[in-house]
Amino acid sequence: MNSSISDIAKQMMADPKGLLAADESSKTCQKRFDALKIDCTDESRRQWRQLLCMSPNIELYISGVILYDETIRQKTDEGLTFADALTKKGIIPGIKVDMGLVPMDNFEPATITEGLDGLSARLNEYYEMGARFTKWRSAFEVNDGEPDEAVIRYNLMVMARYASIAQSAGMVPIVEPEVLYEGNQTIEQSAKTTQKVIKILFEELAKLKVNLSGTILKTSMVLAGTKSVMSKPTEVADATLKVLNNSVPNEVAGIVFLSGGQSPEQATANLNAIGLKGEQTWPITYSYSRAVQDPVLKLWRGKEVNTNKAQAMFSKLLAQNSAARNGQFTGKKVF
Ligand code: G3H
Repeated sequence: MNSSISDIAKQMMADPKGLLAADESSKTCQKRFDALKIDCTDESRRQWRQLLCMSPNIELYISGVILYDETIRQKTDEGLTFADALTKKGIIPGIKVDMGLVPMDNFEPATITEGLDGLSARLNEYYEMGARFTKWRSAFEVNDGEPDEAVIRYNLMVMARYASIAQSAGMVPIVEPEVLYEGNQTIEQSAKTTQKVIKILFEELAKLKVNLSGTILKTSMVLAGTKSVMSKPTEVADATLKVLNNSVPNEVAGIVFLSGGQSPEQATANLNAIGLKGEQTWPITYSYSRAVQDPVLKLWRGKEVNTNKAQAMFSKLLAQNSAARNGQFTGKKVF
């Protein structure tokens, strides 16, 4: 029997788990692999994603994995597709479906996200492959001041259209309007822009009658930019929860955070400070890429002989973030 999108969204938010973001484009993978002198080929990317997705005990901490188009078409060593191998472990396969950011004409360097053309057909194919949720990301810079209203509005109109198409295809949309962390903005500027962006997103989702109980918001935490004084975890928790309480409707199935370039330690400490504030209107958890992958990639370095110790590190990082979701991270560092 097919589960309803609200049921899938609930399973994705199951306590104490999080969602693994493993949906980096091949270009992004290339940059991360190059930095560590790892050969970047379709086979080395397959091995890397297999190391993560098939990590022992991953199912204790991870409820869903966001895959990239290349990976959902690949197989694990066992001969199963990644979607089937994850499903076998009780993990829900998901898929990034936007086609990336392009410069927004007349508003450069602002960007707009592409991918609506042919989306419905692509989603039907992904559903057949086993995906049950999808992700679409837009990005907004705060560094030089608030993004233009037109940049915010058009990106979020497109995002809302994506969400309605995903739900019609029987899949949960993760809507990810990322407010970029790079820059010299204060935590107050970051809060103002994040709140504005999320409010407009929910206006656009309402116009298209998107079912919020089958929708997950993926957002940045509210914190000062990389070129400002680093925000303390208690400041991040207060500012983030204030923005979310002011802008996210109660019906939303859940909220997940991206790590956005925070160090692994910072992303866990900030999540823990949010967890310490206790239960909120919606379940809240993590959906990190860099904060759970970077130290693991450094240990692996593309060498089979390093797989076990890399997976042990990955497991520890996931356990720490799953504890942090409930404010139970003890602060013991693993690296
Ligand atoms: O779209 C971005 C990913 O889903 C999250 O990546 O945790 O490295 O920011 P990040």
